[in-house]
Amino acid sequence: MRHLLGIEGWRRDELEALLDKAQAHLPGKPDTTHILRGKVVANLFFEDSTRTRTSFHMAAKGLGASVMNWTQSGSSVSKGETLLDTARNIEATGPVAIVMRHKSSGAPHLVAKHVRCAVINAGDGTHEHPSQALLDAFTLRQRWGALDGRTVLIVGDLLHSRVARSNLLCLKALGARVVMCGPPTLIPPGLESLGAEVTHNLDAVLPQADAVMCLRLQLERQSENFLPSIREFSRLFGLNPAREERMKPEAVVMHPGPINRGVEISPAVADGPRSVILEQVSNGVAVRRAILEVCAS
Ligand code: NCD
Repeated sequence: MRHLLGIEGWRRDELEALLDKAQAHLPGKPDTTHILRGKVVANLFFEDSTRTRTSFHMAAKGLGASVMNWTQSGSSVSKGETLLDTARNIEATGPVAIVMRHKSSGAPHLVAKHVRCAVINAGDGTHEHPSQALLDAFTLRQRWGALDGRTVLIVGDLLHSRVARSNLLCLKALGARVVMCGPPTLIPPGLESLGAEVTHNLDAVLPQADAVMCLRLQLERQSENFLPSIREFSRLFGLNPAREERMKPEAVVMHPGPINRGVEISPAVADGPRSVILEQVSNGVAVRRAILEVCAS
């Protein structure tokens, strides 16, 4: 049993072993329903999710497990039960893993200290989203074989993005160069100390990138006036067809979803030939099966 609370704490060889394992979980590979047959996986989502929740659900089913689903509104959390009481009660029903998403950074780490089953972080506040970083790395490895020496450019709302932080840690661990770009007000302190190169000039760095990962502008967290206007953000940091022409011919475009079409990425780019956005989603199921196999079987 092992927790996946973040990319932090996982060594390169461990990350690579997990990504290698995910190969065996791609569609068309031999049946894997023996791995967690008769076991239960608890999905505990206290924040909205389309891709991640469904993907973990399908991953657990693909390993033969049954899935219990909890959301904030349908559970006793809405009656005032604490997170720890909820988690301990869920654990008492006997799952091998709790997959959890929570608006507070560090919530899964707290739960992991108090339960015996594996805890898998499906996104905690603005902190980490390790399964997303792993499926992104898997998608790039499928294209490139290895990430060594490749440049990944991560653009947009870096301040609020747990995807950006986990990707920085994961991509650096796997040997890539990571350049992060956004308006000064949406760049958190400390990215350089984690190995990123930081810039505000998207047009200058675009030609260097082997992959451009656009991040959603987290509109629900813009009440503090981080930006003069969405239109200006889009003009300076949006990936549009004119900018796409500055990219290397074989460079790919990524986005973790959900997309704000026309804000951080134009529909023509999101749906265009460079986009691997739906490959990311498909690979997510295989990678999450490997995560559940490594952590909970
Ligand atoms: C992201 C998330 O929830 O952190 N989405 C996802 O899991 N694919 C990114 C976002 O909300 O912008």
